[in-house]
Amino acid sequence: VAGPRRGVDQRGVDAPGRATVGARTLRTDRWWLPPATTTIGLLVFLVYGGVRAFQQQYFFADERYLTPFYSPCVSHGCASEPGSSHFGMFLPDHPLIPYAALTLPFLLLFRLTCYYYRKAYYRSVVLAPAACAVPEPHASYHGETRFPLVLQNAHRYFFYLTLVVSLVNTYDAIRAFWHPTDGFVVGVGNLVLLGNVTLLWLYTLSCHSCRHVMGGRLKHFSRHPVRYALWTRISALNTRHSRFAWITLGSLILTDLYVMLVARGAITDLRFLG
Ligand code: FES
Repeated sequence: VAGPRRGVDQRGVDAPGRATVGARTLRTDRWWLPPATTTIGLLVFLVYGGVRAFQQQYFFADERYLTPFYSPCVSHGCASEPGSSHFGMFLPDHPLIPYAALTLPFLLLFRLTCYYYRKAYYRSVVLAPAACAVPEPHASYHGETRFPLVLQNAHRYFFYLTLVVSLVNTYDAIRAFWHPTDGFVVGVGNLVLLGNVTLLWLYTLSCHSCRHVMGGRLKHFSRHPVRYALWTRISALNTRHSRFAWITLGSLILTDLYVMLVARGAITDLRFLG
């Protein structure tokens, strides 16, 4: 076993007494690909969502379909699309204030502090940690014990707020079955909104914080049968959380695209009923 290399930090893989490998890693797989792909996917979503949130156009279609990026529509600007505001209009109409400015910041923070995305950007952007058996370029590692990363603990509070937003999205999806003049109608847009809100619920309820809320700190499952039953089901969903994280990025964009295209008149919403 050779001694530590000269001129390099003598901690971690270069600590005295550890074998000098010489290579950065002996892993031959593309260990960097999954986190990099997830981070790029999240970035694409953020750019798309940002552009749409500030566009302030084409957010309400067929007098009943409200895109999730504008829900709830609480700006005075929502008056440009009568019927789009279900909870009142009280924010000033300004180009720099999204119509759903009340909730978008929390949804954004909920995503950014999600354990799955954290893992991705820790590994692919800051390389701390990079991957198993891949030395990181930093001399020390404190995890999330210090500022600013200790703020990631706020994820549980964003979870509670997101629950409220999911209820609002559900209300939007149900209300979209009523057209102001045609009454009860069913179109492709209804299926799109319903599918999207179902996926949003699956993503939200499979959250690690939700699992902890259901069964965390319980010492005796037998004394809390309801919480135990809920925890068991959430745990099953939780194993698929990364999948829901990915799927909802796509479903949110597709739902918004659908509403935008119908609102612009680029496509017509096919009605099955009404
Ligand atoms: Fe992903 Fe909570 S861990 S949303």
